[in-house]
Amino acid sequence: MTGQPASFAEDLPAERPQRICVVGAGYVGLTAAACFAHLGHYVHCIESDPARLGMLAKGEIPIHEPGLAELVQEGMSSGRLRFGNDPAEALEGAAVAFLCVGTPPRSDGEPNLTYLAEAARQLARVTDHSLALVVKSTVPPGSCEAIELVCDEVTAEGISVSVVSSPEFLRESKAVWDFLNPDRVVVGAADAQVADLVASLYPPGVPVVRCDRRGAELVKYAANAFLAVKISFANEVAALCEKLGTNSATVLEGVGLDHRVGREFLNPGPGYGGSCLPKDVSGFMAVGRSVHSPTPVVTAAAEMNLLARRSVLDKLAGSLGTLEGRRIALLGLAFKAGTDDTRDSPAIALGKALVGEGAHVVAYDPLARVDLVGMERVPSALQAARGAEALVVATAWEEFAELGPQTLGEEMAGRVICDAVGIVDLESFSEAGFVSLGVGRGEPPSFHPVVWAPLRWAHTTDTCEPVTGAANGNEAHAA
Ligand SMILES: NC(=O)c1ccc[n+]([C@@H]2O[C@H](COP(=O)([O-])OP(=O)(O)OC[C@H]3O[C@@H](n4cnc5c(N)ncnc54)[C@H](O)[C@@H]3O)[C@@H](O)[C@H]2O)c1
Repeated sequence: MTGQPASFAEDLPAERPQRICVVGAGYVGLTAAACFAHLGHYVHCIESDPARLGMLAKGEIPIHEPGLAELVQEGMSSGRLRFGNDPAEALEGAAVAFLCVGTPPRSDGEPNLTYLAEAARQLARVTDHSLALVVKSTVPPGSCEAIELVCDEVTAEGISVSVVSSPEFLRESKAVWDFLNPDRVVVGAADAQVADLVASLYPPGVPVVRCDRRGAELVKYAANAFLAVKISFANEVAALCEKLGTNSATVLEGVGLDHRVGREFLNPGPGYGGSCLPKDVSGFMAVGRSVHSPTPVVTAAAEMNLLARRSVLDKLAGSLGTLEGRRIALLGLAFKAGTDDTRDSPAIALGKALVGEGAHVVAYDPLARVDLVGMERVPSALQAARGAEALVVATAWEEFAELGPQTLGEEMAGRVICDAVGIVDLESFSEAGFVSLGVGRGEPPSFHPVVWAPLRWAHTTDTCEPVTGAANGNEAHAA
């Protein structure tokens, strides 16, 4: 079809269903492909990893996502979903292609867009008709325009590739549900008709936010940065609760039930992790640096995350005296419950830190199948607990909440339990004689009146003097 009009918008197919190409069969791509097929479209998904492709060809699913296997099966047997590795074949009759490849961080925290550029180039090079190339991967603002220039270098004469931003917001472990029931769809395009076409592919009745491409790209970065801020804020409050001798669970419940704040993501723990939040937070800061716009709020969230990760290790060290030579059970490796994904998992970071301190770590996770360096891996929680001096719950799998002090007490050599994710009934462990360490719950300290700031604040009158040097609170109570 070479020689079609350069303006893609004049040549758009109007009707549903559409033929769609999806590039990348990971958490986002495979979910998108299966869900678009479920919505009635004809989807050809290409994947460059031969092992992944081999599994898909046999009807096996390379990732764990509830409901995904069924949708892939449904799509393959109806003929609406195919897998392959030939971009030209995947583009036959497809006016729209979704790019769902990884955009991992580089060692300096800046995003690596080379996989995305290569995937775009592969399609642009072979397409014989004009194409809307939709970037679903998370990218910094300006990337779609850059990818369009990359495509322009290789597209045939008379062919137009219009790059659109439509970021994905699904959560791992709920990917299928989220894709089919999104809170919103964001479409950033340079051309309104191309935006209409892309928006029409999604489930009907969903709110669509339309904007320019940079705006759409920033929606995703800003949304993830805000979630990271919420988690770090919860960890900051939890640290205060520990010092003050109160319980962050109820404090954050009280804060989060205010609908302006919202309850979700206001849970303390071992810090945020996974393949998205840490990477998108560092990407957000990198974007700020690149345009000389300070990002102090998000930078603070990243700093608080490091403190949250460190604090679990410090608590264990504090109660065991030393970590050197200690046998420690690590329950959980996935970055959160419900997924097999271990990318940038706080649980694994904790395991590595424990190994770094000389501990012998025995780990168990019901789903995650990652290669562990320096840690022993066992097939059950009880085997991990066997002979352990301390046990850490690092991923909130429900089965860990069901392990009581009696069961664990029979297996463990020591009596220290640390619940980094807030799912264990620690009171029952304390009653059974365990040292139980949580996040955000402190024993009421007995404040010495001299250092109990509120008492001092209750007695000191406001002199209206500038609060500098010796006039500020710390010096006053030290006097
Ligand atoms: N995982 C999530 O929860 C999530 C949610 C929203 C957005 N995102 C974003 O979506 C993007 C993809 O994330 P993911 O978790 O699905 O990644 P992933 O690593 O699970 O999947 C990417 C897949 O793309 C394949 N691939 C890479 N280059 C290719 C090419 N040229 N041709 C064909 N296949 C190719 C890889 O082999 C891999 O299977 C990232 O930018 C991520 O930030 C992820």
